[in-house]
This record gives sequence, C-alpha cells and structure tokens, in this order.
Amino acid sequence: MATRPDYPMLARQLDATLDTRDWLTNASQTAAFINMTVDNLNWAGFYVQRLPGTLHLGPFQGQPACHPIPFSKGVCGAAATQRTTQRIADVYEFPGHIACDAASRSELVVPVIVTQGEQEVLWGVLDLDSPSPERFDAEDQAGIERLVEIFIASSDFNTVPD
Ligand code: SME
Repeated sequence: MATRPDYPMLARQLDATLDTRDWLTNASQTAAFINMTVDNLNWAGFYVQRLPGTLHLGPFQGQPACHPIPFSKGVCGAAATQRTTQRIADVYEFPGHIACDAASRSELVVPVIVTQGEQEVLWGVLDLDSPSPERFDAEDQAGIERLVEIFIASSDFNTVPD
C-alpha cells in the first residue's frame, strides 16, 4: 500500500527547487522530484503540445515511452482534449489506453494550461503511471494538481498557439 505523501510539504519543496523561469529545466526538475517523492510510480513525466493537436515526449523519468500522441488517443489525449485531469483506476478498463509499459495499471494525467495573452493554451500534460491498480485517489489528484500549478507559476513558456 502506497504511503501518502505530505503534499503541502512537497508543494513548498518543489517551489524552492524550481529556481529558474526556464520551462525545460523546471519540467525536468518536476518530473524527477515527483518520481523521487511519490512512491509506487513506474513513469512520471510531461508530454508537450509542440504541433497543434499532437503531444510530444518531454522530460520524464521511467522506461522509454511512446510518442507522439495525437489528442485523439490515449489517456493523455483525453486530458488534453477535455482539459480535465484523468484519474484512471485501471487502465485495462480505459478504451484506447496506450500501453507504453505493460506494467502500468493505473494512471493520473493532469493538463498543463498556461495563460498566453488573452488565451488559455493547452501547453501539455503531466502523466503519472503506477504498476498498481487504483494507485491515485482524490487527495493524490489534488496534491499533484497543486504541484502542476507551482510548475506553471514558476515557468515562462513558449507555446504553440491553439
Ligand atoms: N498511457 C498513456 C501514454 C503515455 S505512457 O503512459 C508514458 C496514454 O494512454 O495516453
């Protein structure tokens, strides 16, 4: 059984860790930080919208992964298209799940939405995989969403216009 991280403390620690405005450095640090501090994960990282409607692999921790992912595919595509967090208790139950690592059983994908002038742009997604079914509950979702907010607030983004 996974031990629950102290998410408020992780938020303060990540905020202190992200000591630059550069999104690439901060995405790399954030993926490593989450992989180090949140247990029972087999993949933690970002996919970035570098072409309209397509997610390209960004900084991550874990096994080599599938890419690119069109918005129409997988849990990542669903998070990007619906702009809502996807908390999947069992990926075998998710139609169209993309199995980059056969060991993955549950998944949490948080959209990264950044303000660009007047626009709210879908910059990419943070994807977490676990080898255990039902790894993520509502408190995990809220804690990870808060870490994404800190990543966004700490970074300057050059994005692809929608
Ligand atoms: N499983 C994801 C694809 C990315 S891997 O998990 C790293 C999906 O269904 O979108």
